[in-house]
Amino acid sequence: MPTDKVYLVGFMGAGKSTLARRLGARLDWRVEDVDERIEAREGRSVAAIFASQGEPYFRQLERRVLLDLLPLRHVVVATGGGTFADPDNRVLINRDGLSVWLDVPLAGIVERLPADGRRPLATDRAQFERLYDARRTAYEQAHVHLDAGDRAVDALVEQLLDRLEA
Ligand code: S3P
Repeated sequence: MPTDKVYLVGFMGAGKSTLARRLGARLDWRVEDVDERIEAREGRSVAAIFASQGEPYFRQLERRVLLDLLPLRHVVVATGGGTFADPDNRVLINRDGLSVWLDVPLAGIVERLPADGRRPLATDRAQFERLYDARRTAYEQAHVHLDAGDRAVDALVEQLLDRLEA
């Protein structure tokens, strides 16, 4: 698989955007964030898109953004928590670059997620936990499994740099 592009995948609140920025800075690669691109394209927040047009519409936008990113090289992409859960997106991502799963235990995710209403799928705790369990089989299909529970971002960056140089 190409190693001139990294896709960070994993559940909401796993730290994908933070790690993407840090890794991008170390590699001197461009950093792209799928949710930010969706918001810029639509001129409104993810929560507003979910509220007014629903999840299926959001998923279409997510696919379009992913397709737009395909030609870019030397990029670290922070995906949204649901991006890699879609089988077609998974195929696109795994062909296009190195996919890295930031695996954080549920307790860690709950601790990190702000209750600011910005994540529509995190408002119902029971649904959130079901989603966490259901998505693991999808995330397991990433090329690299990073145990990101209690490790500092710097350590994760170093681990990924080693992997990219190997
Ligand atoms: C989602 C995760 C969010 C965002 C949207 C849907 C999901 O991204 O794309 O709220 O389905 O898990 P983060 O993983 O950046 O929170």
